[in-house]
Amino acid sequence: MLENKKVLLGVTGGIAAYKSAEIARLLIRSGATVQVVMTEAATKFITPFTFKAITNKEVITSLFDENSDPITHISAAKKADIILIAPATANIIAKIANGIADDALSTIVLASSAPMIFAPAMNTQMYLNPETQENISKLKRKGFEIIEPETGELACGDEGIGRLASIDEIIESVISEVNRKDDLKGKTIIVTAGGTREPIDSLRYITNRSSGKMGYAIAGEAAKRGAKVILISAPANLIPPSRAEFVEIETASELKVEIDKYFSESDALIMSAAIADFSPVQKIEGKIKKDGKIRTLELKENPDILKELGRNKKQQILTGFALEDKNLIENAKKKLEEKNLDFIVANDISVIGSDFNQIAIIDKNGDIKEFPEMSKTETARIIIDYLVDKLGDR
Ligand code: CTP
Repeated sequence: MLENKKVLLGVTGGIAAYKSAEIARLLIRSGATVQVVMTEAATKFITPFTFKAITNKEVITSLFDENSDPITHISAAKKADIILIAPATANIIAKIANGIADDALSTIVLASSAPMIFAPAMNTQMYLNPETQENISKLKRKGFEIIEPETGELACGDEGIGRLASIDEIIESVISEVNRKDDLKGKTIIVTAGGTREPIDSLRYITNRSSGKMGYAIAGEAAKRGAKVILISAPANLIPPSRAEFVEIETASELKVEIDKYFSESDALIMSAAIADFSPVQKIEGKIKKDGKIRTLELKENPDILKELGRNKKQQILTGFALEDKNLIENAKKKLEEKNLDFIVANDISVIGSDFNQIAIIDKNGDIKEFPEMSKTETARIIIDYLVDKLGDR
């Protein structure tokens, strides 16, 4: 998996720094050689000695310590096959986004052309701060990968987004990046994501709990593997992958208009958007005022976009998602047939909004593959592997 690969593991100063020891150990167990570089702040949370013991290598903490040669450090860094910064603080993200090199880690990063992965971990407010978000966008635009932090209880006692992503997900991302294949080169893939919004009046709308995470992970994976990706997304609190063309829509009908612009030239469509099945019969201009009366909201069914595309498809491989609360496989199979799909990804509604997924892939030939619970990044990889096979069989 990581045999003969050199990973430079940057550790910065946050509570999650203790998790980096486990990351280093698992990278080594996957076959990698690991060179750890720590910021000064990181050494306040975990000692270099821990990493030295795990990696069997001196840890770089400064460019100017007595026993080291700054040029050797930089050339060693340049040899890295990949740089992983985990945990990545708001500070290191800001420095690298803006080209600042004022310590060993930021200098090495600036001197390297290796692919880079950042796993941010910090307090929710710091993470959501527009400055941090802008810096993360900058890193994405530079082509670096960001492993989104998880939501949960934080060391500071707050509850929210900012916990370091799971160690498994971090290791999987390193393995995938290092072994990246260009097996979608020359292909155009449309990916849809997020829950559509259907307006009630100028202020209010109906939507669903879809976070868009699955679609964004699929778009990111397809783009990494060389495809031209068009990500058409309902509003989501996520940063689009840097290598994908991005189109934002709100309603199911807007989604359809955008798909139609790209569909004829595409090789595949992955419909991971949670498209509202119903929309209000009429959208009221302005704001509906309250008047003490009981109100009825009249809803009409939206056209089934995938079904229509299934009727008209030519070369395109069509993939849908089946979101079910019961009889998962049976219902998914029905949708596969009704919508004339090439394969369908079945999942239970309990995964909505979560960072994990548990899927089954059902093929039009009748094959059913069930998978254990995995991160959405890993799930995206499996779906894209499946798509690559399908495109090969065409
Ligand atoms: N879909 C679509 N157009 C719609 C509704 C859904 O193209 N108006 C797509 C979804 O993006 C998904 C697939 O159809 O890829 C299945 O969606 P799902 O919500 O699971 O099922 P529905 O077909 O809407 O059927 P039901 O809600 O009755 O289960």
